[in-house]
Amino acid sequence: MIDKCILIPLPKITDIRGNLTFIEGSRHIPFEISRVYYLYDVPEKSERGGHAHKALHQLIIAISGSFDIHLSDGKNTRIFHLDSPSIGLYVCPMIWRKLDNFSANSTCMVLASNYYDEDDYYRDYDEFKNISINST
Ligand code: TYD
Repeated sequence: MIDKCILIPLPKITDIRGNLTFIEGSRHIPFEISRVYYLYDVPEKSERGGHAHKALHQLIIAISGSFDIHLSDGKNTRIFHLDSPSIGLYVCPMIWRKLDNFSANSTCMVLASNYYDEDDYYRDYDEFKNISINST
Protein backbone atom coordinates (compact mmCIF):
# COMPACT_ATOMS: atom_id res chain seq x y z
CA MET A 1 0.00 0.00 0.00
CA ILE A 2 2.66 2.51 0.98
CA ASP A 3 4.45 1.85 -2.33
CA LYS A 4 1.57 3.63 -4.07
CA CYS A 5 2.70 6.87 -2.40
CA ILE A 6 5.24 8.29 -4.83
CA LEU A 7 6.98 11.54 -5.66
CA ILE A 8 5.60 13.00 -8.88
CA PRO A 9 7.77 15.43 -10.86
CA LEU A 10 5.50 18.17 -12.18
CA PRO A 11 5.84 20.07 -15.46
CA LYS A 12 8.27 22.97 -15.05
CA ILE A 13 8.61 25.77 -17.58
CA THR A 14 11.94 27.37 -16.79
CA ASP A 15 12.31 31.01 -17.74
CA ILE A 16 14.77 33.75 -16.80
CA ARG A 17 11.68 35.78 -15.77
CA GLY A 18 10.78 33.06 -13.24
CA ASN A 19 9.77 29.41 -13.40
CA LEU A 20 6.22 28.13 -13.89
CA THR A 21 4.71 24.82 -12.80
CA PHE A 22 1.23 23.60 -13.63
CA ILE A 23 -0.84 20.58 -12.65
CA GLU A 24 -3.71 19.11 -14.62
CA GLY A 25 -6.07 16.72 -12.83
CA SER A 26 -6.02 13.09 -14.04
CA ARG A 27 -3.13 14.01 -16.35
CA HIS A 28 -0.19 14.79 -14.13
CA ILE A 29 -1.73 13.26 -11.03
CA PRO A 30 -3.96 10.17 -10.69
CA PHE A 31 -7.18 11.95 -9.68
CA GLU A 32 -9.43 14.86 -10.55
CA ILE A 33 -8.95 17.90 -8.30
CA SER A 34 -11.99 18.98 -6.28
CA ARG A 35 -10.30 21.00 -3.55
CA VAL A 36 -7.11 22.93 -2.86
CA TYR A 37 -5.96 23.98 0.59
CA TYR A 38 -2.69 25.21 2.02
CA LEU A 39 -0.93 25.46 5.33
CA TYR A 40 1.02 28.65 5.97
CA ASP A 41 2.38 30.64 8.92
CA VAL A 42 3.29 27.25 10.38
CA PRO A 43 5.48 27.55 13.50
CA GLU A 44 8.74 25.62 13.02
CA LYS A 45 8.06 23.16 15.87
CA SER A 46 4.49 22.52 14.73
CA GLU A 47 3.07 19.14 13.69
CA ARG A 48 0.17 18.84 11.24
CA GLY A 49 -1.78 15.89 9.94
CA GLY A 50 -2.04 13.04 12.41
CA HIS A 51 -4.85 11.33 10.55
CA ALA A 52 -5.70 9.12 7.57
CA HIS A 53 -8.39 9.40 4.91
CA LYS A 54 -10.74 6.59 3.95
CA ALA A 55 -11.16 7.50 0.27
CA LEU A 56 -9.37 10.79 -0.38
CA HIS A 57 -6.45 11.04 -2.80
CA GLN A 58 -4.04 13.93 -2.25
CA LEU A 59 -0.97 15.55 -3.75
CA ILE A 60 1.17 17.45 -1.25
CA ILE A 61 3.60 20.13 -2.47
CA ALA A 62 6.12 22.32 -0.67
CA ILE A 63 5.16 25.48 -2.56
CA SER A 64 7.79 27.32 -0.53
CA GLY A 65 10.30 26.19 2.07
CA SER A 66 10.44 22.57 3.21
CA PHE A 67 8.96 20.02 5.61
CA ASP A 68 8.92 16.28 6.30
CA ILE A 69 5.99 13.93 5.73
CA HIS A 70 5.83 10.66 7.69
CA LEU A 71 3.56 8.05 6.10
CA SER A 72 2.27 4.74 7.46
CA ASP A 73 -0.12 2.17 6.02
CA GLY A 74 -0.40 0.49 9.43
CA LYS A 75 2.49 -1.88 8.63
CA ASN A 76 5.18 0.01 6.74
CA THR A 77 6.41 3.55 7.12
CA ARG A 78 8.20 6.04 4.88
CA ILE A 79 9.49 9.56 5.37
CA PHE A 80 9.70 12.12 2.57
CA HIS A 81 11.42 15.51 2.72
CA LEU A 82 9.65 17.94 0.40
CA ASP A 83 11.52 21.07 -0.65
CA SER A 84 10.59 21.74 -4.28
CA PRO A 85 7.50 23.44 -5.77
CA SER A 86 7.88 21.25 -8.87
CA ILE A 87 7.64 17.89 -7.06
CA GLY A 88 4.48 16.58 -5.38
CA LEU A 89 3.98 13.64 -3.07
CA TYR A 90 0.97 11.54 -4.04
CA VAL A 91 -0.78 10.07 -0.99
CA CYS A 92 -3.38 7.41 -1.70
CA PRO A 93 -6.34 6.59 0.61
CA MET A 94 -5.78 4.68 3.89
CA ILE A 95 -2.40 6.24 4.70
CA TRP A 96 -1.68 7.80 8.07
CA ARG A 97 0.33 11.01 7.68
CA LYS A 98 2.14 13.45 9.93
CA LEU A 99 3.92 16.60 8.78
CA ASP A 100 6.71 18.24 10.78
CA ASN A 101 10.13 19.92 10.52
CA PHE A 102 8.63 22.95 8.78
CA SER A 103 11.19 25.54 7.68
CA ALA A 104 10.53 29.24 8.23
CA ASN A 105 7.99 30.68 5.82
CA SER A 106 7.09 27.29 4.36
CA THR A 107 3.81 26.76 2.57
CA CYS A 108 2.28 23.31 2.12
CA MET A 109 -0.26 23.13 -0.68
CA VAL A 110 -2.56 20.11 -0.95
CA LEU A 111 -4.65 19.10 -3.95
CA ALA A 112 -7.49 16.80 -2.95
CA SER A 113 -9.82 14.53 -4.89
CA ASN A 114 -12.92 15.49 -2.92
CA TYR A 115 -14.55 18.19 -0.85
CA TYR A 116 -13.83 18.43 2.86
CA ASP A 117 -15.71 15.71 4.72
CA GLU A 118 -14.96 14.95 8.37
CA ASP A 119 -16.53 11.48 7.91
CA ASP A 120 -13.65 10.60 5.57
CA TYR A 121 -11.09 10.94 8.39
CA TYR A 122 -9.56 8.41 10.77
CA ARG A 123 -8.23 10.55 13.61
CA ASP A 124 -7.45 7.65 15.96
CA TYR A 125 -4.28 5.76 14.97
CA ASP A 126 -5.24 2.48 16.66
CA GLU A 127 -8.63 2.45 14.95
CA PHE A 128 -6.93 3.17 11.61
CA LYS A 129 -4.32 0.47 12.17
CA ASN A 130 -6.88 -2.20 13.09
CA ILE A 131 -9.03 -1.47 10.06
CA SER A 132 -6.13 -1.23 7.63
CA ILE A 133 -4.48 -4.46 8.82
CA ASN A 134 -7.78 -6.38 8.72
CA SER A 135 -8.59 -5.18 5.22
CA THR A 136 -5.30 -6.37 3.63
P1 TYD B 1 -6.99 18.97 9.42
O1 TYD B 1 -7.27 18.22 8.15
O2 TYD B 1 -7.01 18.19 10.70
O3 TYD B 1 -5.59 19.72 9.29
P2 TYD B 1 -4.10 19.14 9.11
O4 TYD B 1 -4.19 17.73 8.65
O5 TYD B 1 -3.48 20.02 8.11
O6 TYD B 1 -3.39 19.25 10.41
O7 TYD B 1 -7.99 20.21 9.51
C1 TYD B 1 -7.85 21.20 10.51
C2 TYD B 1 -9.21 21.88 10.66
O8 TYD B 1 -9.57 22.54 9.45
C3 TYD B 1 -10.34 20.90 10.99
O9 TYD B 1 -11.21 21.56 11.92
C4 TYD B 1 -11.07 20.74 9.68
C5 TYD B 1 -10.82 22.05 8.96
N1 TYD B 1 -10.74 21.89 7.50
C6 TYD B 1 -11.76 22.38 6.70
O10 TYD B 1 -12.76 22.95 7.18
N2 TYD B 1 -11.65 22.24 5.34
C7 TYD B 1 -10.57 21.63 4.77
O11 TYD B 1 -10.49 21.52 3.51
C8 TYD B 1 -9.54 21.11 5.62
C9 TYD B 1 -8.33 20.42 5.02
C10 TYD B 1 -9.66 21.26 6.96
